[in-house]
Formats: sequence, structure tokens, C-alpha cells
Amino acid sequence: METSASYPDVVALDDGGVSVFSPAKINLGLRVMGRRPDGYHELDTVFQEISWTDQIDFHPATEWSLEVRGFELDIGESNLVTRAAFLLSHYSTMPCKARVVLRKSIPMGGGLGGGSSNGAITLIGLSRLWGLDWPIERLHPIAEEIGSDCPFFLYGGMARGMGRGERLTLLPGCHPGLALLVVPPYGISTGWVFEQGGFPLTDDEKNAIFKFCPDSDFEPGTPFWRICNDLENIVLNKYPDLLDIRRRLLDLGAEAAALSGSGSTVFGLFQEYSRAMHAAQQFESPFQTRICRMVSRRRTDSPAA
Ligand code: C5P
Repeated sequence: METSASYPDVVALDDGGVSVFSPAKINLGLRVMGRRPDGYHELDTVFQEISWTDQIDFHPATEWSLEVRGFELDIGESNLVTRAAFLLSHYSTMPCKARVVLRKSIPMGGGLGGGSSNGAITLIGLSRLWGLDWPIERLHPIAEEIGSDCPFFLYGGMARGMGRGERLTLLPGCHPGLALLVVPPYGISTGWVFEQGGFPLTDDEKNAIFKFCPDSDFEPGTPFWRICNDLENIVLNKYPDLLDIRRRLLDLGAEAAALSGSGSTVFGLFQEYSRAMHAAQQFESPFQTRICRMVSRRRTDSPAA
């Protein structure tokens, strides 16, 4: 199996196609600086790639098809794989031809960025399949059109996200802990959470830098940063079972526990696998648990736009 030098996760398939892992993320802190005139919210967040992936195979074909395995999912334009393919075809003027197989594992509506990741990875996979080989910087504005979290997944690793989440500063290494994810049997709509927040209008982006967690919490190398998520109260008030999970994670020895993004996943940070494993065993169905490693960026050749 051959892998690409510029993007190590792209594996060449025997039929001329490519297979790419599509990872999840958690948010190590999320501050909402205010609502913007366009209805979106100005954010200051830290994205961290984790070791939970979907896999997407892109095969050569004479027409477009998408098959989803693992979950029941729409395959129309609400599916970000389809949306990414149509957009890349539009901007590159390449005919939208491929047979795509998406193997889902990351839950939907869990605040783990699974759909956004699928969209970003589709841009990378089809850019290879169609022989475009566009650099990541050229895919970045298309990823922005797909969704606010989508550009992060072109880079992976750890990154600070500002603006809607699309303005990235790539950070070295990764958070040094393990994340125990507790996933409830329902998803939460990101749009709904922001709507409930009633955040005031702002056009003052500069404030974001100064309002973020103090440097001591943010500095990579400090084992466990203070995790702050401005969306947490909105979600935990409506879903008390998630509040209970966060409390139990802390009782079970997590050094920090928080909602990921707009939820529904709650994660706890641990230093030792044995403690994380013990904590995981205390949660029962219908809650799903998963211990994830933090992942560093594998690509080194592209600065963020
Ligand atoms: O960008 P994306 O389509 O993923 O966002 C989903 C919804 O979440 C948006 O329609 C918007 O209501 C909300 N959102 C927001 N501010 C952000 C990101 C998302 O208000 N920075």
C-alpha cells in the first residue's frame, strides 16, 4: 500500500482509488465572543483531533454514487460528502464522477465534527482521485462553504479556531491526556444551541484573543488546561443527564470534564489509561463510551490560511 508524502492518511487502492480516514475532534475550550450581523457567532476555540475515525473510499467510476455503511444517513446534499463533491466539481470544473463508500463510526450530532470531517476528507480524497492534487490552502475556502468546523479537518492535530471556527492557528503537538467520551443516544442541533444562547451582537473580533482562557491554561505543555465551554450551560440546562455525566466523570477522577462543542458528547480528560478504563466501566447503555488518544498533525507542509 502506498501513502502520499503530503498527506500520510491517503492510501492508494488497487483500482486507482484512494482510501482516507476521517477523524473526529473534541473542543478543548470554546468561548463565544458574540453574535455577528450575519447570524453566525464569533468563536475562540481549540480543536483537538482524536483517535476515532470514519473511513471513506473513493473509487473511479463513470457516474456519482455514495453508499453509507454503519448508519442510516441521507445521501443527498445534506450529506457533507455529497456537498463537498458537488462543490469541488463546480470549482474545478471536473465532472462529478466517483463511487464513494463511507463507513460511519463517529456518532452524528455528538459535537465530534464527524460530518464536517467527512466533508473535508472528501475534498482531499476527490482532489487526489481526479488528479487535481490541489494544495490544502486551495481546498480551505471550499471547506468554509461546507461548514464552520470543516477547514480544521483539512489539517487535523490541534489548532485554535477563531471567526466562525474557520480561521485557524495550527498548534504543535497535541494535548497530553486521554479523552474518555461518553456519548448519549441522541444528537443535538448546533443551530438550536446557538439560537438558545441569546448572545449579544458583536463586531469586535479583537476581544476574542483577550477573553480566551488565561495563557497558563492555553499553553501546550501544561498537562490539563482549564476547559471552558460557553455553550455548556445552555445544553446542560436542557439535558440534565449530561450534567450528571460531567459530574460523574469528575467524581471518577477526570482532571477536567466538559461538553464537546455544542454536544451531545461529554468528555473527561485522564492521564492514566487504567483510570479512564475504570471510569468508562461505570457508564451503562444507552450511553456509549470510548477512550481516545489525542492525535498530532501528520502534515507538516502547509501553514493555515
Ligand atoms: O457552519 P455550520 O453549518 O456547521 O453551522 C451550523 C449552525 O450553527 C449555523 O447555521 C449557525 O446557526 C450555528 N453556528 C453559529 N456560529 C458558528 C458556527 C455555527 O451560529 N460559529
